Amino acid sequence: MTHREHLGFGIDIGGSGIKGAVVDLDRGEFVGDRFKIATPQPSTPDSVAQVTRQIVEHFDFDGPVGITLPSIVHGQRAHLAANIDASWVGTDLQELFHRHLGKDREISVLNDADAAGLAEVAFGVPEARTGAVIFLTLGTGIGSAFLTEGKLFPNTELGHLIIDGKHAEHIASSAVKDRKELSFKKWAKRVDKVLSEYARLFSPDLFVIGGGISRKADKWMPHLTIEVPVVPAKLRNTAGIVGAAMAVDKHLAP
Ligand code: BGC
Repeated sequence: MTHREHLGFGIDIGGSGIKGAVVDLDRGEFVGDRFKIATPQPSTPDSVAQVTRQIVEHFDFDGPVGITLPSIVHGQRAHLAANIDASWVGTDLQELFHRHLGKDREISVLNDADAAGLAEVAFGVPEARTGAVIFLTLGTGIGSAFLTEGKLFPNTELGHLIIDGKHAEHIASSAVKDRKELSFKKWAKRVDKVLSEYARLFSPDLFVIGGGISRKADKWMPHLTIEVPVVPAKLRNTAGIVGAAMAVDKHLAP
């Protein structure tokens, strides 16, 4: 597909799948279906970048590409790799993806939760656009995006805040719920504890929760006791890809 104005392309790299789609940047929606390939194991930078190339070739897309990583992305280098191969740490992301996707292509890489938070501000719940908002994704890990009046403070990594001697994401990610076969009620208690700690440290006006589990918000959000309001994100599994496409289009990547 030839790059046209208001169309973008995003790729979301996760621990289990790598997904891409053409994005209508005015509506924050996919144009056609997304395409997904299982994350290669081990998920080294070169094997993952080869998959991003297959995805771009599948759509025959020749424009700018935004890419998310489940990692700190600072100065277009990856740091901290909790749920992907440790060899990502220190990787020069521009060099890597230019080598695989073409040296003349515009590429931006950013943290997955930061991308999803940006998409939520632009196309999701209106409350995400004002005040001090903590956006979280509860999935394999816990991802976070700090938003002040809709502007992003990147790489906050709240999933790795230590609470009672444990990483927050080892207490309350949705992967923990699955692994321990916790009921929604029991798991909500854990989420409550983690959110309380975040609230104590950062005093947000609102938490917005994304990730697949936000689809079942009615089953667990009523069990939360914290005073800060908590709402489910509006964008669901499109958020990372839409945010990635926006980031390269608007030069928002850190
Ligand atoms: C990673 C974050 C990521 C989150 C969600 C965490 O383990 O450190 O960078 O945003 O998982 O994928």
